Amino acid sequence: MSTSSIKKMIQISEPVIGEQECLAVQETLKSGWTTQGPKVREFERNFANIHQSKSAIASTSCTTALHLILKALNIKEGDEVIVPAFTWVSTANVVEHCLAVPIFVDIDINTFNIDPKQLKEKISSKTKAIIAVHLFGLCADIKAIKKIANNIPIIEDAACAAGSFSPEGMAGSLGIAGAFSFHPRKIISTGEGGIITTNKQELADKIDVLRNHGASLSEEKRHHSSQPFILPDFNVCGFNYRMTDIQASVGIIQLEKLKEFIDFRQYWAAFYQEQLSDIKWLKLPEIPKGYGMNWQSFVCVFNKSKHFRTRNEIMLQLQEKGISTRPGTHAVHLLGYYQSKYQFKDNDFPAANLADQQTLAIPLHNKMTEEDFKYIVDIIKGL
Ligand SMILES: Cc1ncc(COP(=O)(O)O)c(C=O)c1O
Repeated sequence: MSTSSIKKMIQISEPVIGEQECLAVQETLKSGWTTQGPKVREFERNFANIHQSKSAIASTSCTTALHLILKALNIKEGDEVIVPAFTWVSTANVVEHCLAVPIFVDIDINTFNIDPKQLKEKISSKTKAIIAVHLFGLCADIKAIKKIANNIPIIEDAACAAGSFSPEGMAGSLGIAGAFSFHPRKIISTGEGGIITTNKQELADKIDVLRNHGASLSEEKRHHSSQPFILPDFNVCGFNYRMTDIQASVGIIQLEKLKEFIDFRQYWAAFYQEQLSDIKWLKLPEIPKGYGMNWQSFVCVFNKSKHFRTRNEIMLQLQEKGISTRPGTHAVHLLGYYQSKYQFKDNDFPAANLADQQTLAIPLHNKMTEEDFKYIVDIIKGL
């Protein structure tokens, strides 16, 4: 295959939205019920079943899902919530929105997830929750975290982890509650969207009320009651974090494709692992035994001592060859808001700092072809 024949850009990620999703949206739009209603309920039921959870409550994003969990757990001013230092900023932002303090813990560079060995020293009498992020789709080491956490609730930021599992069970069933994302960079998408899974009925009920302005009755239930003209009580101060039935009708179809999407990604991740194993300047992702990875992203670490170029120069080279790349994510303690509020230094969390500077995600998604994967391998081998 001639590399010069490739004219298109291979995107880092692309959602696969087909005819079925379009038809489902049309049907919902024509049904006359577009806000949270029967489609959201169906999506929630199906999502909960797949993720070994008794309940699922859909929301507008993973960020609002996390916010709802913290609010339902009554996280408030002065409380501390532990979060990994390398994650998407919203894992920490939601703690700030509760006026609580995010306490950062460094990651294990081999998994990109919170390092349980460094957790103990960060726990204090003010610690009210631990957010374990399943970054890039790999579940955090929940067994080790639980040992240290004792009774502190563990919240899973499972934004990237639909369909993933650890030896302890499915993502979303491993802590007190889990929050997932359906942003287009995730393995299944509803445009924007999120969902909370939990096995605690009382928590699910609280979250259900909080996402709907604090109303004691959902709009759908009121609409179908014998007295739809009676407005419900509002006993708590809630939010409007409702998913629409339009999004849920896409989500239902996407969820049916989840297994097929993961199988495809696992096949091509194995291809990358095999084909790129000899590249000295690239540390490939490692999946610990017993973990099921959905391969939301294929994130490597660039070894700067083994290449004459920098990571960003490599990214530019790949961009020029039509291959889109990204850093894995960012170290939150290095971001302007957090640095100025808490006076962090770059090396306060060395592994997060390294991951911020040297991670390299290469394209792995369900719209890619065999030709795309082979082209990427050829180009990387030639750098
Ligand atoms: C680890 C993590 N947490 C939270 C989020 C936020 O998800 P959303 O965009 O659905 O709010 C993301 C999104 O990329 C993420 O990667």
